[in-house]
Amino acid sequence: MPGPPFITPVVDSTSIFLPNLFRNRVVFVTGGGSGICREMTEAVMCHGANATIVGRKLDRITQTARELSEATGQTCIAVQADVRQPKQVQDAVAKTIAKFGRLDFVICGAAGNFLATIDGMSENAFRTVMEIDTLGTFHTIKATLPHVRASKGSYIHVSALLHYKGTPYQAHVSAAKAAVDALSRVLAVEEGPMGVRSNVIAPGPIGGTEGISRLANQTQSERNSSAYPIGRIGHVKDIANAAVFLFSEAAANITGQILPVDGGHGHMAAFQ
Ligand code: HXC
Repeated sequence: MPGPPFITPVVDSTSIFLPNLFRNRVVFVTGGGSGICREMTEAVMCHGANATIVGRKLDRITQTARELSEATGQTCIAVQADVRQPKQVQDAVAKTIAKFGRLDFVICGAAGNFLATIDGMSENAFRTVMEIDTLGTFHTIKATLPHVRASKGSYIHVSALLHYKGTPYQAHVSAAKAAVDALSRVLAVEEGPMGVRSNVIAPGPIGGTEGISRLANQTQSERNSSAYPIGRIGHVKDIANAAVFLFSEAAANITGQILPVDGGHGHMAAFQ
C-alpha cells in the first residue's frame, strides 16, 4: 500500500469532550470490575457521572470501585450480583436508586468465555454462556428500564464481531452475542418513543484484556500491526471513547445500531 505507515494515537475522551458532559448522571455497569467495562465506567465518571458496578467477585469490584472513585473524584459503588439471577440484578438496581436517586445509562458488559468446539462442549457449558451474556442482558434491561425511561437515558451493550463469521471454538459466544445484538435492536425500536436509546459496541481485538489473552496470542497480534488499517491493535480507551460518544447528546439520532470499534481490522482482505 502507498504512503508511510501512520499509527493512530490512543486518545483520552477528556481531551475531546466537556469534563461536565455527564454531570449528575448515573451509570449502571455489569462486568465493570475489570477490562473494557472498567475503562468505560472510568471514562463516563471522568465526565461527571457516578457509577454502580456489578459483578460476582466482591473483592474485585470493591477494589475497582474504590480506585475509580479516587481516580475521578466521583462516587462508584460496588454491588455483588450474578446477572443470571434476576432478583440479584433487581436488588443492585434498588441499591443504585437508594444511593443516587436516579439511573441514566446502562452498560451491559458481563460475559463469559472459553475456547471449546461444539463437539467438545457440554450442554451446561453452552447454557452457561448463553445465560451470562444473553439472559444476563435481558435481566439487566428488565430491572433498569423503568428508571432509564424516567431519565430518558441510554443503553450500551458490549458485543463482538466474531459471530459475523464462523469463528471456531466460539459457538456459545457467537450465539449469545448475536442474541444480544437482536435484543438491543428491539429495545431501541420499542423504547425509542419513550426517549430511550440502545446501541451495541462491537470491539475488535483489544490489547491487554482477559478476552484477547485467553483467545489469541496477544504478542503476535501486537506485532502484526499490518492487520489493522489504523496501525495498531485496539486499546480499552478506544472502546471507552465510543461509549462516551454514544451516551452523549451528540449521538441523539443514533439508536438500534452496532458500532464496530476495530481499527478497520474486520474489513482487511486476507491478501493485504
Ligand atoms: C469447556 C468449560 C470451560 C472450558 C467452563 N466450562 N470452562 N467447558 N472449556 N474452558 C464449562 C464447565 O465445565 C461447566 O460445564 C460449565 O461450563 C459451567 O462452568 P462453571 O465453571 O461451573 O461456571 P461458572 O463458575 O459460572 O463460570 C463460567 C464462566 C467462566 C463465566 C464461563 O468459566 C469463564 O470463562 N470466566 C471468564 C470470563 C471472561 O473471560 N470474560 C471475558 C469475556 S470476553 P459442566 O458440563 O462441566 O457442568 C468476550 C469477548 C469475546 O466475551 C471476543 C474476544 C475476541
